[in-house]
Amino acid sequence: MKLKILVVAGDGIGPEVTGEAVAVLREVAELGGHEFTFSERRIGGVAIVQDGTPLPADTLNEALASDAVLLGAVGGNEFNSLPPDKRPEAGLLQIRAALGGFANLRPAFAFKELTVNSPLKPEITDGADIMFVRELLGGLYFGKPREWNRATGEAWNTMRYTRDEVARVARVAFQLAQGRRKKVTSVDKANVLEVSQLWRATVTEVASEFPDVTLEHQYVDAMSMHLMNQPRNYDVVVTENLFGDILSDEAAVITGSLGMLPSATVGGKVDLYEPVHGSAPDIAGKGLANPLGAILTGAMILRLTAKLEAESEAIRTAVRKVLEQGYRTPDLARGNAQGFQVLSTREMGAKVRETVKSLLVNA
Ligand code: NAD
Ligand code: IPM
Ligand code: MN
Repeated sequence: MKLKILVVAGDGIGPEVTGEAVAVLREVAELGGHEFTFSERRIGGVAIVQDGTPLPADTLNEALASDAVLLGAVGGNEFNSLPPDKRPEAGLLQIRAALGGFANLRPAFAFKELTVNSPLKPEITDGADIMFVRELLGGLYFGKPREWNRATGEAWNTMRYTRDEVARVARVAFQLAQGRRKKVTSVDKANVLEVSQLWRATVTEVASEFPDVTLEHQYVDAMSMHLMNQPRNYDVVVTENLFGDILSDEAAVITGSLGMLPSATVGGKVDLYEPVHGSAPDIAGKGLANPLGAILTGAMILRLTAKLEAESEAIRTAVRKVLEQGYRTPDLARGNAQGFQVLSTREMGAKVRETVKSLLVNA
């Protein structure tokens, strides 16, 4: 099959981790006789420096002409004093809005062998497998008015949702649950916020279209605790933009590292794929970054856009096998390095590639 992928690697560890994801995808294409083409464009801080804007028109045009966009990460400390609309992060929000995907799928699952790295006990995390569905185009990120009025010393943002925006992302969550353990947990703050009351009422209405799926509601504060106490209790978790941002980073504790989490954004013109982590300026350029989140993001491209389920599964299996063999990037070796072989970003990418190859050749 043919697949045109735009890689917008961005800043910090973005180029390091997307490089490994692309190498794995190239391997899969070669072995299966598929024609994957990759183009590259700038976004974020690197685009501000070279093009004067965090999302150059050429990048967006190329994205709209592709089957999938793989984004690394944006952001850097040197941009921290800029206002939100001038920062690298603005480029990310602009490309999300322009591509139109509203449902950001962030799976978090505990590979058994990783629990030694998590501060949570293995009996709490083993078998945890959660699909976060984060609404990506509404809420505080995009609501108006928004302003910092320096004269009066006030600032405000607006958490706004329409009924239709809630209903469409809820439907994605229920449909996913139908193919999983048939449970949806909707997270809101309906005890305080009108927008959350609209959210809860709408999700409850949509639930009636899916009688085979159980719906429960949780307040976001309680949910952030339950997630650590009983992660196995959750199947699909649907929530608004900011709550989903926060809860999915929290879920990294279950998986062992933020560097493990992939994501896919669907429902728009072109699907957008990004690891959940950021540009990690503290480790950028040192070969310390965990590329597995980006590599697993590549597996999501194969499953959701390319519909190459066997190849997608081979990547996930390869990641599990490499971890079983004791290979770790430094973030996964913390606290208990015994018996582990610690690898650089590139070495870890190469191990996964080798393993994917042996899985697909012997399939
Ligand atoms: P971050 O996700 O970049 O890093 C948080 C911590 O996790 C750091 O200690 C980092 O070293 C570690 N980490 C993250 N990814 C890792 C990986 N693959 N391997 C090993 N360790 C990893 O979050 P932050 O430090 O709060 O933000 C840094 C910059 O990234 C900011 O400018 C922020 O806005 C941006 N950001 C961008 C995205 C994105 O582009 N999708 C996402 C989150 C944050
Ligand atoms: C993420 C990031 C982004 C978000 C930022 C960088 C705009 O934290 O993808 O999780 O908040 O959505
Ligand atoms: Mn985030």
